Amino acid sequence: MKSIIKNGKIVTAGETFEADILIEEGVITNLGKDFDESSVDEVIDAAGLLVMPGGIDPHTHLDMPFGGTMSSDDFFTGHKAAAFGGTTFHIDFALQSKGSTMVEAIQTWKKKAEGKAAIDYSFHVALTDPVDSSVEEIPELLKEGVSSLKIFMAYKNVFQVDDSTFLKALKKSAENGMTTMVHAENGDAIALITEELLAEGKTAMGYHNVAHSAAIEAEATNRAVAFVEMTNAPLYIVHIACKDGLEAVRRGRKKGLPVMGETCIQYTYLTDAAIDTKDFEGAKYICSPPPKGDEDRDAVWDAIRDDTVQTVATDHCPFWFDGTKEGRTPGKELGKEGWHKVPNGVPGIEDRLPVLWHLGVNGGKISPNRFVELASTNAAKVFGLYPKKGSVSIGADADLMLFDPEKEHTISAETHHMNVDYNCYEGMKVKGWPKQVLVRGKTLVKDGEWLGEEGYGNFTPRKNFNEII
Ligand code: URP
Ligand code: ZN
Ligand code: ZN
Repeated sequence: MKSIIKNGKIVTAGETFEADILIEEGVITNLGKDFDESSVDEVIDAAGLLVMPGGIDPHTHLDMPFGGTMSSDDFFTGHKAAAFGGTTFHIDFALQSKGSTMVEAIQTWKKKAEGKAAIDYSFHVALTDPVDSSVEEIPELLKEGVSSLKIFMAYKNVFQVDDSTFLKALKKSAENGMTTMVHAENGDAIALITEELLAEGKTAMGYHNVAHSAAIEAEATNRAVAFVEMTNAPLYIVHIACKDGLEAVRRGRKKGLPVMGETCIQYTYLTDAAIDTKDFEGAKYICSPPPKGDEDRDAVWDAIRDDTVQTVATDHCPFWFDGTKEGRTPGKELGKEGWHKVPNGVPGIEDRLPVLWHLGVNGGKISPNRFVELASTNAAKVFGLYPKKGSVSIGADADLMLFDPEKEHTISAETHHMNVDYNCYEGMKVKGWPKQVLVRGKTLVKDGEWLGEEGYGNFTPRKNFNEII
């Protein structure tokens, strides 16, 4: 299969230029002008459109057991939704079960995706069994094509590991050229405060914000940055939501430490007020860490602008608001009796790019090139995919988003493709929408129509010793 994308304006992380793209067997083989159209199968006219690398979402949870249920998007519904929103690649988290190995976790997650995937994907793996054999196993992960390891400082008695395991894992990962990632909230403090709140009968949704305060997030983030100082091991701190946590990362980076930061699209828009409602509505927005105050949301934008964070992900972890309807997995209603029982997580895999473009680029906060960096290229660099993914260059996979910067769209659960009955950005009128989305040269979405296929997506192994950006 040979195709040409012509008349578009190419926007990459580094530059903006006009060129046509020649694609052969899913790979970009030339950039230039006046390619011979007589010998190609398809010519795509991108006049008036921006041609960008497809989005890479480095933080998702599809088909994941959590909080007594499963996240509601699987590797087909989640991929379809991702493609509608311009995302062509994601990295999901395989979770080790206690008593099992991390390699087994990766194999389990590979099975979840096989035959379902519609976009390309890879995995991080979470070390949740804090025994020495888990640490010793780290180099084995590379044989599975996994070069990043996740540590939870929160979710006591579930995923959380102690500081000594965290430190050992950091060192072992670094020795093997792997990147450690961390969920930075103080799990012991959360557990204690939760007990105290419940003893006082404080079950309303807003108490989730009290148990997951900015101080709890900032303490763990500062500790994680200090661990980088002690080990000089690369660390990527996921889903940073508060000003003081961002400040810790900024300080670490200023010192030259190999620490990188991720925020998520929900933290650029929501605040804790969304959770702190009088009724059960707030459950929709319960996630950990939760969005914080106005000042924190402003700090998230500052961090996006000054490169304290290198990526804007989703942490897509959807649960039905009403999971009692037929055919649905249990959802947020599990927490009707209290915030502590609400499954943690929000949807966003489809919304990320249009919302980031609208608030960021249209809002005058970031340039189109910075948008590409945050949405795609930086994740490819940090996680060993670049330049195959995350770039528009000769030899790269033709994973592309043809973006219409003039098209207006109102985001709504009525029209989205995520397998969930609400949307965090409900009613937001965005300007700028993906018109056509291609993975390895194949069009998956065109003008709102689904042309993709279950099973088309490939697992993509990732390399180690990646760039620290
Ligand atoms: O609330 C969240 N973030 N749920 C997904 C699991 C995690 O902590 O990333
Ligand atoms: Zn997390
Ligand atoms: Zn997550």
